[in-house]
Amino acid sequence: MKIRNIDFNNNLILAPMAGVSDVGFRDVCSFLGADATYSEMLSCRAMLHNPKKTSLMTITSENEKIKIGQIFGHEPEIMAKAINSPFLSKYQIIDINMGCPAPKIVKNGEGSALMKNIKLASEIIKTCVKFSNLPVTVKFRLGFDKDISTDFGRMCEESGVSAVTLHARTSVQGYSGCADYDAIAKLKQTLNIPVIGNGDVKDIESYKKMLLTGVDAVMIGRGAQGRPWIFSEFLNKPLLETKFNIIKRHVEILKRFYDDKWLTLYLRKHFLWYAAGEYNASDVKVKLATSCSIDKSLELLEKLFKK
Ligand SMILES: Cc1cc2nc3c(=O)[nH]c(=O)nc-3n(C[C@H](O)[C@H](O)[C@H](O)COP(=O)(O)O)c2cc1C
Repeated sequence: MKIRNIDFNNNLILAPMAGVSDVGFRDVCSFLGADATYSEMLSCRAMLHNPKKTSLMTITSENEKIKIGQIFGHEPEIMAKAINSPFLSKYQIIDINMGCPAPKIVKNGEGSALMKNIKLASEIIKTCVKFSNLPVTVKFRLGFDKDISTDFGRMCEESGVSAVTLHARTSVQGYSGCADYDAIAKLKQTLNIPVIGNGDVKDIESYKKMLLTGVDAVMIGRGAQGRPWIFSEFLNKPLLETKFNIIKRHVEILKRFYDDKWLTLYLRKHFLWYAAGEYNASDVKVKLATSCSIDKSLELLEKLFKK
């Protein structure tokens, strides 16, 4: 895939996941093959008024290949200012979030709420395209409560975006039901810009099914939680490191930026996901869920992965 002048290599992309796709996780997914990685969603207002928060959220790793900064907001004038913020200077592509279903985002008229306000969505896109030197893309869902993905995608293209990503569920669906791959195929046939397909890719079968839609690239979210090596699996590449060393690397990178107290709680979910993929992990999972020491958790995981 090519987004304006940016060449992708294997077209496998790690999804933006707020509270999950931290710099350590993005690093290991890149090391294991992900072609492109997204920041967690960044508030345009916070970018202008809360630099401390944004600064932590925009830490990147030198191992990330194509870096995409994802922004959200509902005020074109604020977004026009934010889009040239120094915080975004490390990214090669700017993505606008028009798919987030979280109530506090929707309440503000942001994320997936913009799929109910196509006029404002188009104004936001046109403004961002006009004021950004970088390619602008949009990630959206099928619609807010019904499938309008083809019309919405057409609007995105006409408003000047360089590519779109479709997570093929409605906002109201949240994460329930199955992603609608027929809708992704239809969008791909409709648009002339690259289309990235997203939703429920978690193994080789679902990956192949997604490729049959004709998409230009495939985005993986929950399928990579606790399994960053999913990228190597899809690329049919052997792991050059043990899985435990990969987990350690994820943790070591985070330790450079965050204090132990915060990290101990934050890492629990990642540790539980790592353990979940292993055979006979139930006892270890109980211990990990209450562990107050990163080193102890790592010891438990080391034993589990050696079994
Ligand atoms: C914990 C979590 C956080 C997410 N945060 C974001 C986000 O910040 N921006 C975004 O566009 N999508 C976000 N998503 C949606 C994912 O990017 C993706 O569209 C969705 O999980 C479907 O893909 P999957 O089936 O491969 O997980 C999030 C999903 C999860 C599970």
